[in-house]
Amino acid sequence: MHIGERWRWANDEASQDRAWHELITTGVSWIHAPEMVRKVERDALSIAEGLLGRYAFRMVPAWITPLDGNPRGYEGTSQPTPLHTEPHPYLAAHVMILLCVTPAFDGGDTLLVDGWQLLDEIRANQPVLYRSLFQTARLIPFAQTYWVGPTVSLRLDSLQLAQGIAAPRKGDSVGTAFADIVQLTTPTTLRLEAGDVLLVNNHRFLHGRSAFTDQKRRLMRCNVWLREPMPSPRPLHEEGRQVAERLARQLASYEPWIQHRFGWFGAEGLEAEPFREDYPRPPDAALEKLKQLGMVMRSLDLTF
Ligand SMILES: [Fe+2]
Repeated sequence: MHIGERWRWANDEASQDRAWHELITTGVSWIHAPEMVRKVERDALSIAEGLLGRYAFRMVPAWITPLDGNPRGYEGTSQPTPLHTEPHPYLAAHVMILLCVTPAFDGGDTLLVDGWQLLDEIRANQPVLYRSLFQTARLIPFAQTYWVGPTVSLRLDSLQLAQGIAAPRKGDSVGTAFADIVQLTTPTTLRLEAGDVLLVNNHRFLHGRSAFTDQKRRLMRCNVWLREPMPSPRPLHEEGRQVAERLARQLASYEPWIQHRFGWFGAEGLEAEPFREDYPRPPDAALEKLKQLGMVMRSLDLTF
C-alpha cells in the first residue's frame, strides 16, 4: 500500500485540492498543520471543512487520550486497538480526521489497512468469501451499536466496508473468515508527530493503534459526514449497487426503521429521518429490535 509523504499545509485552495485528491485516490492524506491543530479545541467543524474544502453535514469530534478509571471504549485507554472502521448505525462517517496534539513518547502508532486492496486479494484468492462479503447480511457488533447489512455495501452511493472492534457474533462464518484475514494482514504504520493531521477515507480503510504507556498522549478524532459519496472503483461499486437494488426490493414492505437500519433510505436520501438532528439513535439495547432485524436478515436473499 502506498501512502504519500507528509507535507506542509499552506492554508490555501491548492492545499485543499491536494488533500482531497489524495483522499479519493490513495485514501489517506498526511499533513503537517500545527496552526490548525492548535485551534482544534475552539472550532473543530470549521477546521474539518477547511481541510476538505467541503461542507460537512455532520461532524463528531472526540478526544483520544488515556482516562483514569475504567473508560468505556478504546478512546480512553492506552491499549492496542484492533483494526476497525469508525462505526455508525446508518451511514459511516466519510472521513476520519486525526489531529495530533501530543504524541506518546512510546508507541501509540497509527495502523492502516487499505480495504480495497484487501478486497482485491480476497477476490483473487477466495472468490466465494469475496461474494459473501457483498451478499451476506450480518449483524456487525461495534462498541455501542450494530452495523446491519453486508460487510461491504453501497449506502447512499458510497461503498462502505464495516469492521467492528468486537469479535463477530457466534455463527457468523463470513465475519469470522474476514476477521481472520484482517488479523493476518500487515498494516502500514505511521507515527503522528505534534501538529500532524491525518485524513482517512473511512469507507475504505481500516485503522488501529499500537499500545503505549505515555499518559500525556492526546489526539482529537473528527468523524466527518459529507453530502457527496466517496468514489470507489467500478467493479466494487457495481457489485455493491446490484446488492443494494436487491436489498431495496426485498425491504420494500418493511417499516422505515428496518429499511434504514439496512442502509436503505429510498428517494429521501440524506433527507431521511436518521440524518435529522433530533432523530433518536436506534435502540440497540432493546433485544426484541435486534431479534426482529435478525429475522429480516435471515429472510433476505441477496445472492446473484
Ligand atoms: Fe477508531
